[in-house]
Amino acid sequence: MSEHTAEAQAIDLSQPPAENMVRVTFQPEGRTVEFPFGTMPYDHHGLPMSFLDVAENYHIFLDHACGGVCACTTCHIHIKQGEPGLNEPTEDELDRMEKAPGLQLNSRLGCQAVIEKPGAYVVEIPSWNKNYVSEGKPLAMGESK
Ligand code: FES
Repeated sequence: MSEHTAEAQAIDLSQPPAENMVRVTFQPEGRTVEFPFGTMPYDHHGLPMSFLDVAENYHIFLDHACGGVCACTTCHIHIKQGEPGLNEPTEDELDRMEKAPGLQLNSRLGCQAVIEKPGAYVVEIPSWNKNYVSEGKPLAMGESK
């Protein structure tokens, strides 16, 4: 188990993250994790330092049916804070996003949106993923409901 799974230290949300720290809050659960920029061990899901990578490191469920290679839309998230600190979406990601349900101006693929700077980030996992979370076991893509 990595030290990143500890998460136990209380994060003072009334203060901005310290210099060189990355703070990510996953809504609607409201789980917040914080770690020094550049220290996240790559979990081999999505691009390194993508929101999917962060979520996997902290055992936060973010569906990723294609394994994080920009070939589905199940990792669709809404960026509520921190967009300027992210990479620009590639043409591949934009093409893929066009097929995503619930597309918004702040939509990104969690496996492709990479945190490039320290700071505070808030992302929302949309309701279709939320439902999977509450069931406790995500459905595989294509599996009947
Ligand atoms: S996990 Fe399939 S596109 Fe991100």
